Amino acid sequence: ENRPKAVIVIFGATGDLAKRKLFISIYRLFLSQKIDEDFAVVGVGRRPWSNHEFRETVMKSIQSSDQSQNDINSFLSHFYYHQFDVLEPSSYLELGTLLTNMDEHYSIPGNRIFYLAMAPEFFGTIAKQLKEQGLTNTNGWSRLVIEKPFGHDLPSAIELNKEIREAFTENQIYRIDHYLGKEMVQNIEVIRFANAMFEPLWNNRFISNIQITSSEVLGVEDRGRYYENSGALKDMLQNHMLQIVSLLAMEPPIKLTTEEIRSEKVKVFKALRKIDENEIKNYFVRGQYVEGTVQGNQVPSYRDEDNVDPNSQTETFVAGKLFIDNFRWAGVPFYIRTGKRMALKSTKIIVQFSDIPMNLYYNTKEQMTPNLLIIHIQPDEGITLQLNAKRSDAESYTKPIQLTFNNNCVDCINTPEAYERLIYDCMLGDGTNFTHWDEVKYSWSFVDVISQAWTNNLAPLTTYESGSMGPKESDSLLATDGHNWWPVS
Ligand code: BG6
Repeated sequence: ENRPKAVIVIFGATGDLAKRKLFISIYRLFLSQKIDEDFAVVGVGRRPWSNHEFRETVMKSIQSSDQSQNDINSFLSHFYYHQFDVLEPSSYLELGTLLTNMDEHYSIPGNRIFYLAMAPEFFGTIAKQLKEQGLTNTNGWSRLVIEKPFGHDLPSAIELNKEIREAFTENQIYRIDHYLGKEMVQNIEVIRFANAMFEPLWNNRFISNIQITSSEVLGVEDRGRYYENSGALKDMLQNHMLQIVSLLAMEPPIKLTTEEIRSEKVKVFKALRKIDENEIKNYFVRGQYVEGTVQGNQVPSYRDEDNVDPNSQTETFVAGKLFIDNFRWAGVPFYIRTGKRMALKSTKIIVQFSDIPMNLYYNTKEQMTPNLLIIHIQPDEGITLQLNAKRSDAESYTKPIQLTFNNNCVDCINTPEAYERLIYDCMLGDGTNFTHWDEVKYSWSFVDVISQAWTNNLAPLTTYESGSMGPKESDSLLATDGHNWWPVS
């Protein structure tokens, strides 16, 4: 029997992430019998809830029509609530006693996951207290899962890291980037390293540019307070987008181990070209949404959203051009863009191959389309290869054709939630799809220059209509290089 046995302690159990993602993910692990009957989830929060109230909340977030009440009840019986004051040492001692009881009740050998899904200002305090009050001192393992944001710039990230490292070693720390749990993000590595036809072309001799888009339809919703201090740069680019870049750009690891993969990723972060503050305007575009129509609905400007300053300078869109200064990638732009209130929800990678040396089929009416490899991350999952083929109605003209593999249609089931995989990985002690401190460090030092330039007004804040694909400056960014954003629909 090697299914993992552990107590999962969720700090912030009454919060949004727990309700939207964590409970359902644990439930799916339970249904698929990936976790043992011998597990417990202890929700920790400020509110004075009973176990019963907590279980009600969990039930609401896992309910759907096709589940038996039996399953649900037996699942819910594993959930316990602990009311808690984050600054009060006795709160930790009480929690410790509860955890020891759980260990006995479910014969769990002292394995503990401490999942911090709450306001980041207490991450350091909690980590220290867990150690000082002896909660990490068991015969089993203790792991710390940390949600973003991991700091808001390099100095604050270093500070936070110092605090948690006093209580947990790097190997015990699981920094979540939920994009790394997505099926097709995990597939990047396989597409690249398991196919004879891509890796030989995967360099500056055959790739013209790479485009990564992650567009959202939703606005800032009720997260104005958080988002005002974050913006698209820190909310999406520093973590999710740069992680995707590193997976696309890394050298093949010598083995598929956590250490080897991470060390290749870190080299990409190190090779990211640092841009001078005064040059940022030529590489990055920031934009903010104004009112418009998104998928048929009229929506307000960002500045009219709740908890948003009417003169806010926060960007809800960012597009950028990155260079990776190494042998493989010298000269190849990586274009990235992400934003809220855009035309559609879509995350895609488009690899544009270089033009062939001479086009025999060129004529004045049409130009040949470059070959594209499209990796569809969401909402659809799959890959498309765009080639040129003969047009049957005209002898010497070509037309682009698409070979598509759609992951959802093949398996005909929902692929697991990103969080489901990541929680499971953490239970197994596999840190591959979590962010190592070095990655965090380099990504902040890259991003800090951009945000500094923006704070110093060295690049204008543009606007874009809700429901569009961003400001026109984002198109110009590529146009100056003779490129354009390929459609992502
Ligand atoms: C989160 C950001 O990390 O990612 C959110 O904080 C964003 O602002 C979300 O909406 C997007 O995730 P996904 O999985 O919907 O692409």
